[in-house]
Amino acid sequence: MTFHDTPRRYGAVSLLFHWTMALLIIAQFMALGGYINDGEHWIGNTIVPWHVDIGLLLLVLVSLRLLWMLGQREQRPEPHGHRPMQLLAKGGHLLLYTCMVLMPLTGLLIMVGEGHSLAFFGFQLLAERDAEMSWAILLGESHAPISWLFVALVIGHLGAALYHHFIKHDDTLVRMTSGRFGTN
Ligand code: HEM
Ligand code: HEM
Repeated sequence: MTFHDTPRRYGAVSLLFHWTMALLIIAQFMALGGYINDGEHWIGNTIVPWHVDIGLLLLVLVSLRLLWMLGQREQRPEPHGHRPMQLLAKGGHLLLYTCMVLMPLTGLLIMVGEGHSLAFFGFQLLAERDAEMSWAILLGESHAPISWLFVALVIGHLGAALYHHFIKHDDTLVRMTSGRFGTN
């Protein structure tokens, strides 16, 4: 497997970004049931207390991934299918990127706007403040609605991957996995 992408398959760096971030994003979705530190459900007690740390880590990862993706875009695989299907796939990926960027930013706006302290895996970034920033809270209120759009997109994306693999029998899923069944 190559480090970089090629027109036939994604390389090791893109695979690492895709699957690490997919796992972390699914962990973030565990906040959906209102389990943010409610202290009652095991999900609220285990995964969700890491929400801010994982969210900030995802902000770092998506910034690096965007740079990587822009550097690779001339040499990465094209979506399969006719032109309209290719555009749909590309539009879907663009929306996924938009959500990956907007989710951590709006999350930050809630925390900063409400004057909470902010830490990244124990490293204090901001101390608690009294003053509220109403514009930041207002923008931050889009965090939950965008998360619903994000979940819908991920479900559609998963459906598309399975459709390509099991119905179209093309290499869409294989080129985003270990590539053990494919060639370079
Ligand atoms: C890709 C990153 C992120 C994802 C996918 C994500 C996802 C979610 C989801 C699904 C919810 C529950 C929404 C609901 O109640 O319907 C939520 C709530 C919340 N998240 Fe995030 N989040 C991310 C990053 C962050 C970051 C970086 C912060 C803070 C710095 C943050 C702070 C919060 C807070 C305070 C809530 C509860 C308030 C609210 O629901 O508006 N999130 N998040
Ligand atoms: C959970 C969050 C996920 C996000 C945010 C996400 C995002 C993306 C993005 C942006 C791409 C375009 C390539 C790139 O720039 O990296 C992509 C490609 C791909 N993803 Fe995901 N993905 C997620 C989960 C999944 C899952 C669960 C599967 C399947 C089981 C999957 C299968 C694929 C496949 C097969 C491709 C290659 C598509 C092609 O070559 O046209 N993804 N994903």
